[in-house]
Amino acid sequence: MRKIIVGMAIIFAIFGGIVMFLERPERTDVIVIGAGASGISAAIEAKQAGLSVVLLEKMPRIGGNSQRATGGMNAVNSVVQENDGLVDSESLFLADTLAAGHYQNDRKLANLLVEKSGEAVNWLIGFGADLTDLGRLAGHRVDRTHRPSGGAPVGSEVVRVLGEQLVRLGINLRVENKVIQLIDEDNRVTGVLVRNEEGREYEIMADAVVIASGGFGGSAERFVFYNPDLKGFKTTNHAGATGDYIDLVADLPIDLIDMEKIQAHPTVEPHFGILITEAIRGNGGILINMDGNRFTDEMAFRDVLSEEMRQQPMGKNFLIFDESIRNGLSAADAYIDMNLVMEATSISELAQILDVDLVDLTRSIERYNGFVAGGSDEEFHRRDLPIQLTAPFFAILVQPGVHYCMGGLPINESAQVLDRDGVPIQGLFACGEATGGIHGNNRLGGNSMTDAIVFGRIAGQTAGVVNK
Ligand code: FUM
Repeated sequence: MRKIIVGMAIIFAIFGGIVMFLERPERTDVIVIGAGASGISAAIEAKQAGLSVVLLEKMPRIGGNSQRATGGMNAVNSVVQENDGLVDSESLFLADTLAAGHYQNDRKLANLLVEKSGEAVNWLIGFGADLTDLGRLAGHRVDRTHRPSGGAPVGSEVVRVLGEQLVRLGINLRVENKVIQLIDEDNRVTGVLVRNEEGREYEIMADAVVIASGGFGGSAERFVFYNPDLKGFKTTNHAGATGDYIDLVADLPIDLIDMEKIQAHPTVEPHFGILITEAIRGNGGILINMDGNRFTDEMAFRDVLSEEMRQQPMGKNFLIFDESIRNGLSAADAYIDMNLVMEATSISELAQILDVDLVDLTRSIERYNGFVAGGSDEEFHRRDLPIQLTAPFFAILVQPGVHYCMGGLPINESAQVLDRDGVPIQGLFACGEATGGIHGNNRLGGNSMTDAIVFGRIAGQTAGVVNK
């Protein structure tokens, strides 16, 4: 009898052990939340450092808002800029970034963004990215915005090469797996609770968790909550940009920063919220109001320009460009394919199609062309005057739309998330649009992809190492 009892005890112990083993949460070195450009960059760096990584994406595919990025990625001293012989410098790029941010940027972070920007572009080129077309977006004094040849959108190219690296490195990517909670003990983050595509919840424990879940520009409820002036605005963001980090850190001693600082992009198609890239203006496009008048420096900082555009009759305006601009930017062809573009063979036809005053429209275009010829915009002081506009003309109806969240999680230069006292929360890192401070009051166009890659890489390099 005694033997039977001992035997049964052993069997129960073994069985219990197996059950416990099966139920033991999964473990990895690094968890990355969000598979946009910043999250993938973090995952790649951590994996290359020899760490085990799980990359969790709540949407069915990778890319996030990065996939939608169009105008380009800023960098100084990239191989492309060097081959072009362009005269630029870190101090000039930093000055443009700070001026756009109205000097409210976190200087150390902005400095790091600039310092590591060339390396970031070279890193992507090393993966096979085509970033050879150099252009200029608003607020820059030098051509430093990198995009694929022919002026194709930057985001799909960057996500393409990063996605290839995920496969090459065998990174454990799980789409449709949403992180619903951070697990923490004594203010140290130790893992996450995940809900998978079937609704099953499971835990993963880790030395480091990197939040790269993006901003909240895809949630009208959230952007209006933080900035009620944006009620009624369309958004350029994808539906998954719902600010998940806000809920994830709600129980941690963290003060989110600059949450009301939300960028309205000046040129957004008013019905579907499609971003009409600033590169069209950068390559020479102009803005005309509903009366047929040019009214501003088209390359003014986004916040300034968006406000001016809202003040124009009916709050809507036309972006005008010509064949040479279209030929230099394949992004423009995409707008034509989407039926967003009106075409005219002459100024009078353009006036008719847009239903604006012919005399005012003619004067506006001819005056602007005269400024280009003379090298100086006597009316609105636009700095960069690339080309005279000639028929045939193209026009797109535009209005400002929500585009980018400057606020978010406070981080330090190692991408560690900081608590209320400025002390790093152990085990918690963040990068990309989920973070705040880098861009001050207003992000310089082309700096979001740079931010994503630079700070994504830093997060991946430091996560899993710093807290060991
Ligand atoms: O207009 C654009 O292509 C947007 C660029 C950006 O937000 O960086």
